[in-house]
Amino acid sequence: MAREVMRFGNLLRMGLFWTLAVMYSYAQLLYQRVLRSGITFSRVPPSRDKRRLVCVVTGASSGIGKATAEALAVHGYHVILAGRSKTRLLEVIKILSRKHENVSLEAMELDLSSFRSILSFTTAVKNALESRGSRGLQLLVNNAGILAGSQRYTDAGFDSMIATNYLGPYLLTRQLLPIFHNGSPQARIVNVSSFTHRFVTAGLVDEEHLAQGSLANFPLGKDRYSLAQVYENSKLCMLLFTYELHRHLYANSDSSKISVIAADPGVVRTNIMRELPSPLVSLAHFVLRVLRLLQDPFEGSSAVVDAALAPEGLSGEYFFGGNGRTIKSSAVSYDKNLSEQLWTSSNSLCNKALTKINEEWIPG
Ligand SMILES: NC(=O)c1ccc[n+]([C@@H]2O[C@H](COP(=O)([O-])OP(=O)(O)OC[C@H]3O[C@@H](n4cnc5c(N)ncnc54)[C@H](OP(=O)(O)O)[C@@H]3O)[C@@H](O)[C@H]2O)c1
Repeated sequence: MAREVMRFGNLLRMGLFWTLAVMYSYAQLLYQRVLRSGITFSRVPPSRDKRRLVCVVTGASSGIGKATAEALAVHGYHVILAGRSKTRLLEVIKILSRKHENVSLEAMELDLSSFRSILSFTTAVKNALESRGSRGLQLLVNNAGILAGSQRYTDAGFDSMIATNYLGPYLLTRQLLPIFHNGSPQARIVNVSSFTHRFVTAGLVDEEHLAQGSLANFPLGKDRYSLAQVYENSKLCMLLFTYELHRHLYANSDSSKISVIAADPGVVRTNIMRELPSPLVSLAHFVLRVLRLLQDPFEGSSAVVDAALAPEGLSGEYFFGGNGRTIKSSAVSYDKNLSEQLWTSSNSLCNKALTKINEEWIPG
């Protein structure tokens, strides 16, 4: 069931806060440049090998995911493009194969708002790795995301935006962890977040709120749903998850089988605002272009590709602005208590939903 939530106050808050948030991120880059305090990381593409390294890019049918899939394929990866529509993915493969010689691409259906779909996708990736004689999954780019224009629920009863943008990628990562390549070059997870996380003030994560897209920063009630806040929360969750997974992976050693990095594309002209009124989207694009903040998907994907190709061993960083640059995300995103609460709540919500699926599968 969908409920419209397009209130003027919501949209105004979104336009104002998000513009300020992205300007703050660029201000950090400027500050680092002036003080020469920024650290940049050069891209290290995989060595050309007959047996290509395998990567998965979610949300590869459009925008930043499509541009990322293209860049990684050109750099020599076998790219599994994941999205809800195989037709759309095959169309992208057709275009990229015409544009570039010798790229290796494959389409697989995945709906991140459905846990059944995530389980089927995981099996399909395992089978694909086996049939290619691959050493394991090398890279996962958790890119797919939505900005929902109405409140909707998944089959498991989760808010569909938090499910697509965070809980789905969380479960997908958890399911794929055992099949990552163990050895050199080090495998990697890249989580796509956003500057919009900067205005989130969250003090608590529990299961009930998380399932509804709230971090206890708005009450669970009929008239309080804010699409902007749920989107911001989902992007903060991706950061808290990135840093917590990093701590888990490196808990007992300075090295790990897998590294995990967050990337923020900045403002990019894509289909992300497809559910918002089109005059409003045109106005937003006009203002952002005047402010010189609007990028095309190729420019926007550069922070994501920087993170994917960053030197081995680098983990727990936040890439923004392209050219291998990193900045700090918000103070809340580094809150260890909050990320532990998120880890526990996400695990429990996913386990309960998976148990329910298994119960439904028992015949009779
Ligand atoms: N555009 C920006 O300014 C901006 C800024 C910061 C961060 N981001 C983030 O960048 C990421 C990519 O967004 P974009 O701007 O490139 O938007 P986009 O053009 O709308 O692309 C979103 C992609 O996600 C896929 N997707 C949506 N729902 C899905 C689901 N349930 N399961 C699997 N795939 C799904 C879509 O594919 P199908 O519809 O074919 O399934 C599409 O390929 C998102 O995480 C977004 O939050 C964007």
